[in-house]
Amino acid sequence: MTRHLLRDDDLTKAEQDEIIDLAIALKKDRWKLKPLEGPQTVAVIFDKSSTRTRVSFAVGIADLGGVPLIISTANSQLGGKETPADTARVLERQVAAIVWRTYAQKGLEEMAAGTSVPVVNALSDDFHPCQLLADLLTIREHKGDLAGLTLAFFGDGRSNMAHSYMLACVTAGMHVRVASPEDYAPRDDVVADADRRAAETGGSVELYTDANEAAAGADIIVTDTWVSMGKEEEKLARLRDLGAYKVTRELMALAKPEAIFIHCLPADRGYEVEADVIDGPQSVVWDEAENRLHAQKALLVWLLRQS
Ligand code: CP
Ligand code: NVA
Repeated sequence: MTRHLLRDDDLTKAEQDEIIDLAIALKKDRWKLKPLEGPQTVAVIFDKSSTRTRVSFAVGIADLGGVPLIISTANSQLGGKETPADTARVLERQVAAIVWRTYAQKGLEEMAAGTSVPVVNALSDDFHPCQLLADLLTIREHKGDLAGLTLAFFGDGRSNMAHSYMLACVTAGMHVRVASPEDYAPRDDVVADADRRAAETGGSVELYTDANEAAAGADIIVTDTWVSMGKEEEKLARLRDLGAYKVTRELMALAKPEAIFIHCLPADRGYEVEADVIDGPQSVVWDEAENRLHAQKALLVWLLRQS
């Protein structure tokens, strides 16, 4: 059966562990596995801008012996002109997998339903599961076993990153705190899905409006841009509404002394995070950005093995 990664809870805890273990092995020995030797091609489609995702998939696919075909929707028939399902049927005759950064989660679901090759969500409005595999790898490297760790997210709780932290971290058995204004609280259905998964793994999700309470004693402090791609028109309101959730040195001081700071990047220094924090000694954001490469290679190897 073809497996896809459309949202973080598409993976069980055991599957997530297997992929992170594989990522650690591939980081140690970068050219160890060549499942795309031939070379086979992987389509990597972008409806939104990207630096890290574009580079890490292109480099990772090449490392695995394959050829990345980077497609911008603006120059393709996808995006209003042809359905995701028809696009998938065309692509599957020629590529080994499809990676897609898009807006609506529904498009990814249609793409996956219409094809026999793995489909990977490279960020949607709702989730960013590739980023979470890299983040969990980074946390493993700096903090050891994931289960039982407390991660606190600050800012837009309804964003793709907050939703992915909830689903992926409870899958790993972690405790997730999301601190946001009530109007930016995570979607109810995602909270319910995270709660269900947490009941199986021993993890938990807690929602806060008070940033200081959420930071107290946390192992990992995390934030993301206040203005996600597609939300540019709301910029002024968001800067006003989310101001109290900035990650400052004072907020970091409330977490455990050995806490780490992560951020998927790109970052707006002075808005969601102070420069002193993201450029300070507790920040591991450059490891996190590098780990996109290793985690996504492991994901592709795993998906191709399953399918
Ligand atoms: N973190 C992340 O996905 O970065 P890009 O938007 O540059 O791909
Ligand atoms: N929440 C951000 C993540 C960027 C990698 C966005 O969607 O723009």
